[in-house]
Amino acid sequence: MKGLILSGGKGTRLYPLTYSKAKQLIPVANKPVLFRVIESIRDAGITDIGIVVGQTAPEIMEAVGRGGRWGVQITYIPQPEPKGLAHAVQISEEFLGDDRFVMFLGDNVIQGGISPLIAEFAGSAWNSQIVLTRIAHPEQYGVAELNSDGSIKRLIEKPKEPPSDLALVGIYMFDHHVLQAVKEIKPSWRDEYEITDAIQWLVDHQFAVHPYIHRGWWIDTGRPDDMLEANDLVLEEIDYRVDGYVDSQSQVDRRVTVERGAEIINSVVRGPSIIGENTRIVNSYIGPFTSIYHHVLVENSEIEHSIVLEHTQIQDIQGRIQDSLIGRHAVISRSPTKPTSHKLALGDYSQVGIL
Ligand code: TTP
Repeated sequence: MKGLILSGGKGTRLYPLTYSKAKQLIPVANKPVLFRVIESIRDAGITDIGIVVGQTAPEIMEAVGRGGRWGVQITYIPQPEPKGLAHAVQISEEFLGDDRFVMFLGDNVIQGGISPLIAEFAGSAWNSQIVLTRIAHPEQYGVAELNSDGSIKRLIEKPKEPPSDLALVGIYMFDHHVLQAVKEIKPSWRDEYEITDAIQWLVDHQFAVHPYIHRGWWIDTGRPDDMLEANDLVLEEIDYRVDGYVDSQSQVDRRVTVERGAEIINSVVRGPSIIGENTRIVNSYIGPFTSIYHHVLVENSEIEHSIVLEHTQIQDIQGRIQDSLIGRHAVISRSPTKPTSHKLALGDYSQVGIL
């Protein structure tokens, strides 16, 4: 089997972070979501992986390389425009050939990996296997309606009135018949070639599409709150280790990872949390569910339930920062000059909550 990861798209819901960074490279528990996807596919025994890339291609290619780090071989497939998930399959025809494959959205995180799913599909005669999970707001996703015998009746993309609470998780398995399906379908109202329409085409033409109901958690990291939720869930599951330096004045919980070259000085760090490489935490409090990426400085400040990206500085902040997603090279500091005021230099679409 082959793997196909979709890592193009625009990422508009994660502006402003995704103006300057591919959303698949935003880290969850200090590891880019895309790297977690590659590892899930590799752990399921698949080493031939294609990655569909769009306007952020150079950044993705630089971060991932040829795949040697994971023991896999990566082929990049450029998508000139983000015309939908089914379009991404269409342009991957040459890479896919006649092989069965798993398609994984490069911004999705799933509990427990995909090895059992892949094994089940590889050993079956099904033409496709889709993954469904019960969620509270299915109207934002592709939704499946099942027959009483558990087979698929129909699939609808972002329905206003969902016929069930079964959303399509961003992991799909296909054989080569999907290549015909993606050519037969028409673009949707939002002018995208929808993968739900291609799967519906398979169902309508009597191909065997097996629905698998996933019972663990699954997060589509489309919006900032989703990133924080994914970060919470992954932080609960990683192995904790202290490779950096913690001074004798600091208190660091058991469920905290301190990466190489990081320094915790006179600070309290509550887990689950992760402090990245060469980051310094000085006279500060880091609360639970916080991921601080590499080369960050947090000094005389408090932060919890947040993600802070690389090379950012947070200094002398009164009051606690929480529920925040802070980008790269940001500087947050106390302004010493009068009059007392908030002095901001924010990018387009930034959001700041001030007391
Ligand atoms: P989406 O989250 O549906 O789309 P998007 O990335 O454009 O985000 P937004 O809605 O915030 O603008 O995409 C899911 C995944 O599939 C994501 O990793 C990007 C990728 N993708 C492609 O590779 N090609 C495409 O044509 C589309 C639509 C998405």
